[in-house]
Amino acid sequence: LQKNQALSQVAAAIGPVVVVVMDGYGLSKTDAGSAIAAANKPTLDRLFAEHPNIRLRAHGTAVGMPSDEDMGNSEVGHNALGAGQVYAQGAALVANSIATGEIWQGQAWQEIATAAKSATLHCIGLLSDGNVHSHIDHLKALVTQAKAEGIATVRIHALIDGRDVPETSALDYVVPFEAFLAELSTDGFDARIASGGGRQSITMDRYDANWPMVERGWKTHVLGQGPQFANATAAIEGLRQQHPGVIDQDLPEFVIAENGQPIGTIEDGDAVVLFNFRGDRAIEITRAFEEGAGFDKFDRVRAPRVSYAGMLQYDGDLKLPARFLVAPPAIRNTSGEWFSRLGVTQFACSETQKFGHVTYFWNGNRSSKFEGETYLEVPSDVVPFEQRPWMKSAEIADAMIAALQSGRHKILRCNFANGDMVGHTGNFHAAMMSIEAVDLALGRLLKAVDAAGGVALITADHGNADEMYELDKKTGQPSLNKDGSFKAKTAHTLNPVPLILYHRIAGLQLGLKQTETAGLSNVAATTAALLGYDKHADWDESLLSTAD
Ligand code: 3PG
Ligand code: CO
Repeated sequence: LQKNQALSQVAAAIGPVVVVVMDGYGLSKTDAGSAIAAANKPTLDRLFAEHPNIRLRAHGTAVGMPSDEDMGNSEVGHNALGAGQVYAQGAALVANSIATGEIWQGQAWQEIATAAKSATLHCIGLLSDGNVHSHIDHLKALVTQAKAEGIATVRIHALIDGRDVPETSALDYVVPFEAFLAELSTDGFDARIASGGGRQSITMDRYDANWPMVERGWKTHVLGQGPQFANATAAIEGLRQQHPGVIDQDLPEFVIAENGQPIGTIEDGDAVVLFNFRGDRAIEITRAFEEGAGFDKFDRVRAPRVSYAGMLQYDGDLKLPARFLVAPPAIRNTSGEWFSRLGVTQFACSETQKFGHVTYFWNGNRSSKFEGETYLEVPSDVVPFEQRPWMKSAEIADAMIAALQSGRHKILRCNFANGDMVGHTGNFHAAMMSIEAVDLALGRLLKAVDAAGGVALITADHGNADEMYELDKKTGQPSLNKDGSFKAKTAHTLNPVPLILYHRIAGLQLGLKQTETAGLSNVAATTAALLGYDKHADWDESLLSTAD
């Protein structure tokens, strides 16, 4: 734990180091469909033209996903940025545990299966193969195993995606899945979708941004309240007809009923598995199931006594949930902890929608702080973000500037949510404006970096606004809808992200090494190098070069 001699001369010249994550800012191969290319962004243009910058890998195995076909996401991206190393992530851990059968040997599944044999097994989660929060194959494995173990009744509460997968793809999942359930439902086994709704309208809120969403989910899944349909396929078709133009993630809730009676309310004695593996959007609904009478986020009306399990444990500090089917990645020796041990003060800031990303995900899915860390959350608006594409970029810049001016922090990190949150809406014009807002905020922030004699590392966790239309695989050009309009893309991209090294310290020559493997996990060591510290032995290499 000491200063690295070779780097300490450089470090002596440097004030604070600011790490800026422009969420959802990828580097696309083509300008076609890129809201980033279309944006007026003088600060970023100047950064790319005049300061060292390289490309970082931000998807697939470079961030611990099962394959290079998997896009990156904020969890794995911020884990890699904060931990300085790559761990096999939830998606891979669950898939492996199912492949080896280990998941079924664990005590957690045994307890769930035992409870479900004399009652109902409920599986709640995101129904797609996005592999960001969940994977439909994991759900199918759960249902198949339930039947094999003699559980008679399974009810699925399906959150409709359209955010990690194409924006109106719900029926591509629901239709074959209902057929799969029907085929399995023989010999006294009965598995059906019982309720659901768009993931941005019920259940999957995060970071306490919008508890009424979770309340609506509770009423739907647990109490069975909501518009009734005969099955989920009919529900999607019916809701689309009733709400033309509403994309999957925003569809309202639905309940499956027979003779006016919901087929899958959640009752005392039932077993409930939340089959999402990612934590941010799983924590609130988990709290609603696990907390006792003190729960005060909404009126549950009734809180059934169930055996509850998460696919993973979502928060290791809060032990949430207590029961989980697969152990989460044991992320150790994060940069937050390492810098804290070195006595380096750290400041982390974002708005609600991404606040946990620069704190909880950054520190390896821990909700507690390390000594010397200061956190600041700017409350997000609760609105569709295409209506406010600037989001809280100005306020985050204000907070970062004030923190820099206070002189109290040696490392400061922030996340601008815009490119991602607005990118997910599929609205090209709004996404373009969201990038312009980030550019403006960044320009102000960099002036404060100069005044403090500091250095900034500007990067992103994965792409999103860089591809706002589905691109045709062969031509690379935007795909068209039947009516000739471009097909909107709401999901993340597979593109690399930038790493820009910015400073205006006279006489200091610094560069970045573009290596073949350069990825998000190299940023922690690069930050350490700028401050003249050795990296933790577990971390991937620094990309700093001390001569251009
Ligand atoms: C979400 O949760 O909003 C998306 O599934 C993933 O977006 P994020 O990884 O950028 O948070
Ligand atoms: Co995103």
